[in-house]
Amino acid sequence: MNAAGSPEPAPRPLAGPPLWLLAELTYRCPLHCAFCSNPVDYVRYRNELDTAQWRTVLEQARALGAAQLGFSGGEPLLRDDLEELVAHARQLGFYTNLITSGIGLTDARLGKLRAAGLDHIQLSFQDSTRELNDFLSSTRTFDLKQRVARMIKAHGYPMVLNCVLHRHNLPHVGAIIEMALEMGAEYLELANTQYYGWAWENRLALMPTEEQLREAEAVVEGYRARIGNRCRILFVVPDYFEKRPKKCMNGWGSVFLGVAPDGAAMPCHAARMLPGLQLPNVTEQTLYDIWHHSDAFQRFRGTAWMPEPCRSCDEKENDLGGCRCQAYLLSGDASRTDPVCDKSSDHAGLQQVVLHGRLAALDAPAPAREAPLVFRADAASRRFAAS
Ligand code: FES
Repeated sequence: MNAAGSPEPAPRPLAGPPLWLLAELTYRCPLHCAFCSNPVDYVRYRNELDTAQWRTVLEQARALGAAQLGFSGGEPLLRDDLEELVAHARQLGFYTNLITSGIGLTDARLGKLRAAGLDHIQLSFQDSTRELNDFLSSTRTFDLKQRVARMIKAHGYPMVLNCVLHRHNLPHVGAIIEMALEMGAEYLELANTQYYGWAWENRLALMPTEEQLREAEAVVEGYRARIGNRCRILFVVPDYFEKRPKKCMNGWGSVFLGVAPDGAAMPCHAARMLPGLQLPNVTEQTLYDIWHHSDAFQRFRGTAWMPEPCRSCDEKENDLGGCRCQAYLLSGDASRTDPVCDKSSDHAGLQQVVLHGRLAALDAPAPAREAPLVFRADAASRRFAAS
């Protein structure tokens, strides 16, 4: 009984383990991609966990049950202790993945990462052409990435390429696949832009038309039929063009645990921007407490938080309400039904965003370099932080 004489509420059952830990080692990055998923005000979070603190994060996450570990950023290669952290993760029993632009990856460093036990490397490209690759990242990195891809292969790693798609490079999908095949890629992730962070700010300049998406999808299908398992191609149409939302992160606080460079623990990589969501920090609480008891991880876990029309929807277990960050960006309230769902009263607003993107695409000056993109850079981030 509680102090008021009523029965105590039954304790909440503990959630299952976080299976996937994403360690965002730093927000620093040599690239300036216009679709970067880091917070637009990243300059506010300059502090980075030190090596000992990251080692503790890895140990606590593994004890919680995490098995997959992604080292990401920014550019994780900017951390001098990456090899040490990989070795520690490997010793703990993690399957480790380095998510990188390749900038800073030398033959010697690859050898050290291999020796440390790194399992997997995912290398990002921006396009199949030097011109667009270098334009979209605002750097001259296309040739360097080609060299890094050869090095990764030479060290015996499977070649896993990632390319973020949007209206500027969707017409090149066939050429991007050809490039991946020439490089001997075993996997190619064609990741249609998710509109968070910098991509949200650039949505009118990046949003494709539905025709572009469907044409690219048909090209991918043609290659899949021709090349079989020689290279596995992942291509998912963004849910802005669907009528039901995705089960984002496989459900909030379900399997994903992200840790930002400053130690903020996140139920999804974009959660930092949600107003009113106090992110717990690994320097103040254990990951066990954060995962099982913090408000941030409980807030949208399961189905009890859902408003109508989700609450009484017979499909609610399929998508667990969709994406909280998308709901916030499109409706101004993270607890509303994801506007991707056509049962949402905010769905018309989403269609407006798609329509504005379409009109901008039809109006867009060619070549793409004239599009009004805001590139990720400290000066732009300071402006966002100030506003
Ligand atoms: Fe945050 Fe989907 S990206 S819940």
